[in-house]
This record gives sequence, C-alpha cells and structure tokens, in this order.
Amino acid sequence: MKKIVIIAIALVAFSCKGKEEESFGKEEPAASTEASSEGMPAVAQTPEELGATLFKGKGNCATCHQVDTKTIGPSVQDIAAVYKAKGGNIVAFLKDDAKPLVDPSQYEVMKANFAITKAMSIEELQGLEAYINSNLK
Ligand code: HEC
Repeated sequence: MKKIVIIAIALVAFSCKGKEEESFGKEEPAASTEASSEGMPAVAQTPEELGATLFKGKGNCATCHQVDTKTIGPSVQDIAAVYKAKGGNIVAFLKDDAKPLVDPSQYEVMKANFAITKAMSIEELQGLEAYINSNLK
C-alpha cells in the first residue's frame, strides 16, 4: 500500500513537471510572433479608404446608410448627388455647422450621430466625405 502511494506521488510530480516544461517551451515563440505583427508599420490609407473604414466601423454610419438603397437614412449615392448638386459641405454638416440638405424631415435621427462625428479629427471627417463622394454614380 505504501509503495503504491509513493509511486502515485512520484507520477504526479513527474507529470506536472513535464507539463510545465512543455507549456514554457510553447508559449515563448507564440508571444514573440504576436508582438512582431503588432509592431508592423500601419499601411498608408487614402482619405477614401480611411472614410470607408470609419463608415463601416467606429462611425457606425452603415447601420443607417447603405450605398445604393435608402434604409433608415438616405443612400450614400443620394447624399453624394445632393451635395454635388447643391454645392454642400459634408465636413461642415458632420461638425454640426451646416443645415441638412438631403432630408431635413429626418434631421433629428441624423443629429444623434453628431456626438460621434464631432469627436472625430478633421482627417477623419474629410475621409468620410471622400468616401461618400466616391460613391457618386
Ligand atoms: C441612426 C441612423 C443614422 C446613423 C447611424 C447615421 N445616419 Fe446619417 N442620416 C440619417 C438620416 C435619417 C438622415 C436624413 C436626415 C438628413 O438629411 O439630415 C441622414 C443624413 C445624412 C447626411 C446628409 C445630411 C443632409 O445634408 O441632409 C449625411 C452626410 C450623413 N447622414 C452622414 C452620416 C455619417 C458620416 C454617419 C456616420 C458617422 C451617419 N450619417 C450615421 C441617419 C443616420
């Protein structure tokens, strides 16, 4: 009986040691691979690409604006066409410095997003404008 207990303890001790060594050896290279990919230089974006990323991402614009169909908000193509026809300034609108030109009856719905757009940098707003205008038919 005593012998079995000793063997059991020896086995447990041995298997624990084995696992520790194994995971130590495996984690090292994985961590360093991750660090090197994070450290890669950001790929340069055009304003239009930046705008597209913001529109679908942190700007949350795509929730209400489809490219070619009116959903909750007017389509991106319609916005681009109206701003071209009326000579409007999308950056000024998104900074809450200009009146709505597309669908003033629904302005209140869009206004809720100024909290997001007013916190954006001028480069980001110009990116959104470039992205919207790039969808002009
Ligand atoms: C909750 C829904 C919703 C979200 C999210 C949203 N919009 Fe709108 N947007 C609207 C509605 C509704 C209108 C129509 C009212 C209007 O024309 O002002 C509109 C209108 C617009 C217009 C035309 C404004 C004008 O002159 O009439 C622009 C430009 C615009 N949105 C850009 C954006 C951008 C950029 C984002 C993301 C940062 C965004 N929207 C997010 C609902 C939304």
